[in-house]
Amino acid sequence: MRCLRVACLTFLLIVPLGCTKRSNLNPPLSSKVYGAQIVLVSGDKQAAGVGSKLADPVVVQVNGADGSALAGALVSFHGEGLVLTPAEALSDASGQVSVSVQLGGIPGGYELVADAPKAGGGSTTINVREIALGYQEKVGKEVSYKYCTTCHDPESTPERVSNLDNLTPPLPHQFTDGNTLNSMSDADLIKVIADGGPALGKSPQTPAYRNTLTQAQIKAVVAYIRAVADPPYQPPATKH
Ligand code: HEC
Repeated sequence: MRCLRVACLTFLLIVPLGCTKRSNLNPPLSSKVYGAQIVLVSGDKQAAGVGSKLADPVVVQVNGADGSALAGALVSFHGEGLVLTPAEALSDASGQVSVSVQLGGIPGGYELVADAPKAGGGSTTINVREIALGYQEKVGKEVSYKYCTTCHDPESTPERVSNLDNLTPPLPHQFTDGNTLNSMSDADLIKVIADGGPALGKSPQTPAYRNTLTQAQIKAVVAYIRAVADPPYQPPATKH
């Protein structure tokens, strides 16, 4: 009798809950296969304005122990401050899952973590870094795309052909190249942008932008260079 009552109660409690859940959410996904490793295909190190959606999705791939792509593996995404759509999905026929990323409202680096359960328990994970640009940094990105990337980015896009192949060494660095640019002070960056390469004993191929850009635009480019630096830029400790 007691048993029956418990059963009835459980039935009454669970059924309505179950119904509302089912109507709002898709049934939980479960992994059909277990991978050995999750790898990044594309979409890391993108920079976009705070709160905006990244131009490209992040794509990851689940591989089996022999390195071949696995279809039907469950991949979950999380990341503090990020809106990730979908939050989880099964890998497609090429072993891949793609997630769209909306950045949080605070400028700085964000970390997306993708994980897939492993056969013996535990999971394989990969961390992906993305960058949210504050207002000044975003202005800097726009200036940089308009005036600088033609020489400073080796990749050509449909809108812009890279000019890098036409330059004679020493060649310019990508603005993400923290190993080179982090060691330059803000003052030196501003000087080379405003006055051109020779101002710092560098190649005359880097033009002087003193008459093209305002001081505010030049400072914005510097803020952008600092924001996208990889490894990240650490400002020098302020002297007391
Ligand atoms: C016509 C090609 C060209 C354009 C356009 C150009 N640069 Fe350069 N830049 C160079 C070259 C070449 C160097 C390398 C100079 C050297 O190492 O002697 C350089 C060097 C630099 C450096 C020093 C660090 C490095 O990469 O070696 C900075 C900073 C820089 N440029 C900023 C800018 C900014 C900001 C813009 C746009 C506002 C810009 N440049 C546009 C060619 C260009």
